[in-house]
Amino acid sequence: MPFTSERLKQFEDIKKRYPEGKHKSALLPILHLVQEDHGWLPVAAMDDVAEVLDIKPIEVYEVATFYSMYNTKPVGKILIEVCQTGPCCLNGAEKIVSYIEKKLNIKVGETTKDNMFTLKTVECLGACGYAPMFQIGETFYEHLTEEKVDMILENLKQEKLKAINN
Ligand code: FES
Repeated sequence: MPFTSERLKQFEDIKKRYPEGKHKSALLPILHLVQEDHGWLPVAAMDDVAEVLDIKPIEVYEVATFYSMYNTKPVGKILIEVCQTGPCCLNGAEKIVSYIEKKLNIKVGETTKDNMFTLKTVECLGACGYAPMFQIGETFYEHLTEEKVDMILENLKQEKLKAINN
């Protein structure tokens, strides 16, 4: 079992929030923690989660592949999640996606060769009034323009490089 004892304790605490026989409900928060550890959800880790919750691995895969907030393949250091739902689309999300693709020389779902950026499109993030927008980590970046995208990505890249070199 690759989980640390601290993680296993957290899993047990999460399971206690749900009635006996309903532990499967703990799947989403547990997957968040596993993704925090790996940056994505390797199959082996999902299999271990299934064991923790006493459910079938397929039940974990179904959830992990349904929600866009889970990454089922490795992602770069900076994960760009561009909202592509109606209001964002009407306000230029497609242009923003194309701009990022061209700028980073990748397509949606891909990661740059230096492993710095991954580009994803996701459904409504609840910030429709500030469209077009994307999420990186815990932060929403709104009213995006090409200039703003340049500035945001450059700043984040510099921050990451600084962190790596320190
Ligand atoms: Fe983009 Fe809602 S449509 S945040």
